[in-house]
Amino acid sequence: MSEFTLPDTLRSSSPAVGIVLGSGLGGFVDSLSGGKTYQYSELGGLPESKVPGHAGRLHLGKIGGIDVIVAQGRIHLYEGWSAREAASMIRLFDELGVKILILTNAAGIVNANLKPGRWMLISDHLNLTRQSPLSGTAQFIDQSEVYSRELRELLRAESLELSGTRLPEGIYAWINGPEYETPAEIRMLRTLGADAVGMSTVPEAIQARALGMRVAALSCLTNYGAGLSSQPLNHEEVMAVGKKAAGELFSLLESTIPAMVEI
Ligand code: HPA
Repeated sequence: MSEFTLPDTLRSSSPAVGIVLGSGLGGFVDSLSGGKTYQYSELGGLPESKVPGHAGRLHLGKIGGIDVIVAQGRIHLYEGWSAREAASMIRLFDELGVKILILTNAAGIVNANLKPGRWMLISDHLNLTRQSPLSGTAQFIDQSEVYSRELRELLRAESLELSGTRLPEGIYAWINGPEYETPAEIRMLRTLGADAVGMSTVPEAIQARALGMRVAALSCLTNYGAGLSSQPLNHEEVMAVGKKAAGELFSLLESTIPAMVEI
């Protein structure tokens, strides 16, 4: 029995690639060709996001000639949802046959060598919430390569080709939020080996691996973590940076997705 009630047009689609957009990256969908759009409220079984900048729409379309499904708006623990609920979209993608998942997010910089406004490829994560989308099951899944090495290599090579610059890779720390970190917490995260910090992505990545998908994840580095810059953080600033980065992401995925489905 499916946990979702979906319109027939969606149920009969067969996207090869699923994409989840992070805060402020909604502009990405303007570049999608063709396809249909569904409001989350039209889909039975999905929790509804209430955060500004998280629209709650699902789009079918093509990128680089490949059928994709794009979720604009995700579910976070800080809204009161569980990790399992935060990963609902990934189980929906799985029901449609998605095999490759590309997760994006807005994240704060923990490693001061990284630059705001740039993308960071996630190589691994620290789950500091200690919540799991697999809680209540006995899925003892291997996590030695949550973020596919092959997909990362493709994305890095393509980014170098497109922009002439290297796409940095790093460790993403998942925290509950919704408040941003204190300077002491940012120092702690750096000591633990984190390069960036945010409030999403990890439950979806864990769920996707449990379902056998290959996963790539990219953080849009919107701001320095507290204490690394003299400016206080605000949600509007995070959204503004994301807008610009959405265009770059689309170009990168347009040239990488056709190769991703071949490997
Ligand atoms: N911390 C946590 N999450 C975030 C940040 C941050 O500084 N920026 C964007 N998402």
